[in-house]
Amino acid sequence: MPTQPSGDSNNKVAAANRVKSLVDGINLPLKYERDDWQVDIDYYHIDDLPDHLRDWSFQTFKENMLTLYTNSNDGWDAEQKKNEMFAKEARYLIARSRQNPAELHGMLLFQMVQEETMDDDTLCNAAYCYEIQLKETARGKGLGEYLMKLLENIGKRWQMDKVMLTVFKANKGAFDFYIKKLGFELDEISPGACLPAKKARLFDYEILCKKI
Ligand SMILES: CC(C)(COP(=O)(O)OP(=O)(O)OC[C@H]1O[C@@H](n2cnc3c(N)ncnc32)[C@H](O)[C@@H]1OP(=O)(O)O)[C@@H](O)C(=O)NCCC(=O)NCCS
Repeated sequence: MPTQPSGDSNNKVAAANRVKSLVDGINLPLKYERDDWQVDIDYYHIDDLPDHLRDWSFQTFKENMLTLYTNSNDGWDAEQKKNEMFAKEARYLIARSRQNPAELHGMLLFQMVQEETMDDDTLCNAAYCYEIQLKETARGKGLGEYLMKLLENIGKRWQMDKVMLTVFKANKGAFDFYIKKLGFELDEISPGACLPAKKARLFDYEILCKKI
């Protein structure tokens, strides 16, 4: 899991975390259109995320991921996940139908964090995608790619070094999405990159990154 931001008030992560709206000044619109499918994207700091969107985000995560977590090395732990999803620096992009704003299509949850590198003395600054979860009906239409582009853009705006995320090896569709479609690669601290193959095999996840 990502390292939480340090108390160093000079670092870029701390600077971003002092600001509520991280989307001011980005050069992509908070909307996505494909043919006649029109999606508006709302940004929220966790403090401003309404209860019904918290509940919806957790339920959508659970709907999509319960089986993968249940089968994972660490198993399913709803409380631990809620702590992560509703952490004090959590930020959300919530995608909803323009025609019917009550219809929610998906969400991306991120945080600006300092993360370890292979150099013990160096941390990197990352726009860390903790979750991207779309309803089944909203998949395969480019919305996931667009939400990730927005995150890249936000990361760039706040001078992060890269976008990072963790993905289960068993989640093959998502793996292809990140690596083949979006150009992510194994981060240097990912088991598959920093451990001998025999040890790396014991881990059921990889950490991916894309320099920005
Ligand atoms: C993974 C996810 C965010 C991708 O978003 P999306 O809007 O469906 O993806 P896009 O339409 O932008 O891109 C789809 C591309 O991803 C790749 N892909 C392959 N298998 C896929 C799968 N099962 N699901 C999604 N994408 C897949 C393909 O390359 C596909 O390319 P194409 O458009 O040329 O067919 C979305 O499918 C989702 O929410 N899945 C369930 C939850 C999940 O696994 N989240 C990731 C946790 S790490």
